[in-house]
Amino acid sequence: MAIYFDNAATSWPKPPAVRAALDKYFLEAGGNPGRSGHQMSIAAARLVENSRELLAEFFNAKDPSQIVFTHNATHALNLAIYGLLRPGDHVVITSIEHNSVMRPLRHLEALGVRVTVVACRTDGTLDLDRLNDALRPGARLLVTTHGSNVAGTLIPIKQVAELARNRHVLYLLDAAQTAGAVAIDVQGIGLDLLAFSGHKGLLGPTGTGGLYIREGVALSPLIRGGTGSDSARETQPEFLPDSHESGTLNVAGIAGLRAALRFLRETGTEAVRTHEQKLVSQLLRGLREIPGITIYGPGEAAFQCGVVSFNVDGAMPSEVGLILDEQFGIMARTGLHCAPSAHRTLGTFPTGTVRFSFGWFNTIAEVDASLEALRKIAPWAARKSEAATWTG
Ligand SMILES: Cc1ncc(COP(=O)(O)O)c(C=O)c1O
Repeated sequence: MAIYFDNAATSWPKPPAVRAALDKYFLEAGGNPGRSGHQMSIAAARLVENSRELLAEFFNAKDPSQIVFTHNATHALNLAIYGLLRPGDHVVITSIEHNSVMRPLRHLEALGVRVTVVACRTDGTLDLDRLNDALRPGARLLVTTHGSNVAGTLIPIKQVAELARNRHVLYLLDAAQTAGAVAIDVQGIGLDLLAFSGHKGLLGPTGTGGLYIREGVALSPLIRGGTGSDSARETQPEFLPDSHESGTLNVAGIAGLRAALRFLRETGTEAVRTHEQKLVSQLLRGLREIPGITIYGPGEAAFQCGVVSFNVDGAMPSEVGLILDEQFGIMARTGLHCAPSAHRTLGTFPTGTVRFSFGWFNTIAEVDASLEALRKIAPWAARKSEAATWTG
């Protein structure tokens, strides 16, 4: 039995309708959207625009044009960060951010952007007073993750957005770990920018993602080129979404994402959230009963997304990951999860943790099977010498 607990990297499996949509796309809508007037091109353009409408509905954006397609959340975050910040600007982030936020900002720091990192507590939770202090007048942008990809910790985004608004600071939310699994209402929360993956909780194919841009927030494009619109001009269109969608889109991926969004609309985000919370609770309960296991993060399903990190005394995370995979068919991710600062916050740098990340298709039986495996691995790790290999 193969058990896939790496949905935070990309979700698997995808709903059957996603695979069917890819097939249908190649058969019926394989043209380049917006580039030509023939029927295949028009069919592709309709598909893209319909997916955009579904995303706008999903996040409660005012208008579909406020949704820009990207290749992943990293691309969306880069578009927002480089599109907004200039030398002399001040940006505030938290210490649990992913490298897709850290790396662009460390690059911009060398070019004169001031970066303030607000230290989270050791379970990844954010001290709102500390954040408020960091949002000094003059700060231009606040970037936070919604759910930590290491500890699962959820950030109270409604309160954070209010603090940012009171300080006239733009708020960019990284929803890579929550889009599709935790409800996000961009207008209700008052988000200025929302970066999301299409291939994780939204259950679409890899190579999909997007950025929501509130009206009135002006971003300079990350890349410029053909858009199929305003073709007589040699300068970039200034209207959304074309200003940020140069070059041929990943229409096949977007076709799959559209099917996934329909699936999620039928399923309901609340049902996904409830299901993931049950899985997290079951895992946390079981892990606590196994001697030699340390759990990181809030340790309570209500305060975390579908991500749980832990370590087994006496074994490196990579060893545990290998045994889980090779001996028990359980696929997890180990190490630093592209978030070294988050691991420094938790005290798990540089070796990292073992991470289980759940999705809609995981079951309680799978969680129980993983606990059964860990009940065997933990005593082995406690007795093993450095050179010992798995003996069951
Ligand atoms: C918190 C967070 N932000 C951003 C990303 C990047 O997402 P993508 O893989 O879609 O580029 C990830 C990926 O795991 C993530 O966990």
